[in-house]
Amino acid sequence: MARLCLQGRMKIRRHKLFFCCALALCVLSQLHCYSVNALSFLWRGKGNPSYNAHPEMWPLQGPVPFDTGLWEPGEYREEKGNAEVGEDPWGKEQPDSGNVNRMTVTFPDPKGPRRELHKQSFHLRDDPTPFFVHTKSGAYCFREGTEMTSLKDHLGQKVQAAREGQRKILQANQEEPKSAQGKSAWGKRLVKCMCRPGWHGPHCGIPTMVQHSNLPTKGHLTPRKVPRRVINAININHEFDLLHARFHELADTVDLFLVCESTFTAYGNSKPLHFLRLLLNGTYDYVHNKILYVLLDHFPKGGQQNGWIADDYLRTFLSRDGMSRVQGARPDDVFLINDADEIPAREGILFLKLYDGWTEPVSIHMRKSLYGFFWRQPGTLDVLSACTVAMLFAVYNGDGISLRRREYFSMPGFQNYQRKSGHILVQWSIGSSIHYAGWHCSWCFRPEGISQKLISAQNGDFPRWGDYVEKRDLNYIKGLIRTGGWFDGSVGEYPPTNPKEPMYSPKYLLKNFQLYRYILDNPYALFW
Ligand SMILES: *[C@@H]1O[C@H](CO)[C@@H](O)[C@H](O)[C@H]1NC(C)=O
Repeated sequence: MARLCLQGRMKIRRHKLFFCCALALCVLSQLHCYSVNALSFLWRGKGNPSYNAHPEMWPLQGPVPFDTGLWEPGEYREEKGNAEVGEDPWGKEQPDSGNVNRMTVTFPDPKGPRRELHKQSFHLRDDPTPFFVHTKSGAYCFREGTEMTSLKDHLGQKVQAAREGQRKILQANQEEPKSAQGKSAWGKRLVKCMCRPGWHGPHCGIPTMVQHSNLPTKGHLTPRKVPRRVINAININHEFDLLHARFHELADTVDLFLVCESTFTAYGNSKPLHFLRLLLNGTYDYVHNKILYVLLDHFPKGGQQNGWIADDYLRTFLSRDGMSRVQGARPDDVFLINDADEIPAREGILFLKLYDGWTEPVSIHMRKSLYGFFWRQPGTLDVLSACTVAMLFAVYNGDGISLRRREYFSMPGFQNYQRKSGHILVQWSIGSSIHYAGWHCSWCFRPEGISQKLISAQNGDFPRWGDYVEKRDLNYIKGLIRTGGWFDGSVGEYPPTNPKEPMYSPKYLLKNFQLYRYILDNPYALFW
């Protein structure tokens, strides 16, 4: 806004009229911001107990990357608009800047290419991967979901000549699926793709976890010409193996990982930046060009007394600071926020990326397990995790923690956003109670990692087992892993599991079974 005025001023001699218009715009949008702020302030005062309890925590009315109120759905924004983001980080108005614990972080190589990682910005670009292919017969097929060799199976021996002809085409154009051609040659059937197992729809791009979901608009799904960009935001403590699993699962689907690390544990003690160290020593080099490092260098006021504040604040900071450094985001891009131990399956996220016609917000049915993938718990964990960037800012104020709550319908921006979208927005879930669309692996560490998690745990989820020395004892913890027991002495009910079952764990872990054996196969199970 200030920039707009400034620009107007610079051109004043030649464009007096333009300047007047710009000024009017400034005034108008100022008014607009004011009313939005007033509205959200009202809501905060009423709706949410944690906002009530600690209003001083939430002067987070800093600039959001987009003036969402002026958007039309589907309208692409020029990059210029987003460039403002970098110049006006909400960090200037961080809460409690006066009275929080702060840490000065020295980055190892201030002159190297990775200097000031936590201040760099990321420019989103279109994913050039040719996910779909046009067949000669006019079908438009999702490569991965389409049977490439279906032609051979389809044509009998009778049509040897035709087959020879096709083979030539195949040779000339090897990657192209030919499924529909046989059909169209024989009858007047619709030109369709021949789907591989696990893929559905006329274009074979709908995975089973969406086909069997409660998505109400299944009949209106269309492949996009240009994929959405997917931003996956996570907070990391010491879930480094699960992070490898996430990166391998999602690296070809997600365009940007926002990874936030804090110099404090959720309890409020200072801690080293373990993830940063790994990032700099090359541990995640295979995906480093998709990682934007977010650094939380302060601990929110009140977070020590009420651990839920610290817990929520991690997500708020992650989304606000992270998104403020993203340039070139479009309203229909996807924002996906997870805890480090929640790993969405690739196929569901790829669907969000490649298709139009789904509604939002989107949650994910995840397989639940404890200590490893071997102690599977009944049911699924269904967590609200994704929405478009437009909805993130128009409805959730750019705050990922609001998305994770189930109150979108009562959010002040929701009705307006829904009206502008021209659709009825209903929350739906990828997967179902019997089709997993991801994994939630709780406390999936070696015993030392579990002990560390106990010590770091926030102060609000009581009883806080980290407060008891005997619960942090490694032999005690090994006993829990062995039996699937909990710190309160109870032992859960677990259906039997087998690493060969579908969706047992993220594929990368199974592929490297020996390396990740400790979370795939109960290391302390007794031999009989
Ligand atoms: C990076 O550091 C970690 C922890 O110190 C170590 O285990 C790992 O082998 C290092 N990786 C590389 C590529 O140097």
